[in-house]
Amino acid sequence: MLNIGYLKRTLLVALWWMSGSGLCYAADPNKGAQVYATHCASCHGLSGISVMMGAPSFAKNEGLMSPDSALLISIRGGKAAMPAYRGVLNDQDILDVIAYLRTMN
Ligand code: HEC
Repeated sequence: MLNIGYLKRTLLVALWWMSGSGLCYAADPNKGAQVYATHCASCHGLSGISVMMGAPSFAKNEGLMSPDSALLISIRGGKAAMPAYRGVLNDQDILDVIAYLRTMN
């Protein structure tokens, strides 16, 4: 007999695998917004107006002059008072959040 539940589960696992394995490269600013609210808003402010001395305000386009590849390195490795997100966020998460930062101004 055909087991629909099993098929659905297999399909979900396949989709999950594809989304995590780099087959989907496009950065998603909507996912980035969730990452931002959880990990970044405590310093950079939920609306992009900084709430910490020295942290750029993305709503004023501060801190966004560098290309995505350079921002990725800053966020991965940390910079000055900003902690490193290596091991906390994967590169896809970081690229999603960078895409979101670029929508905040
Ligand atoms: C503990 C506070 C804090 C948190 C949390 C934080 N940041 Fe920062 N961030 C800073 C500070 C301070 C700077 C300025 C660093 C410097 O002096 O250049 C900064 C700089 C930046 C820059 C500019 C980097 C550059 O190369 O000029 C980006 C982009 C950025 N943060 C993104 C993020 C993102 C995305 C998150 C969440 C994943 C995050 N930050 C979380 C404090 C924070």
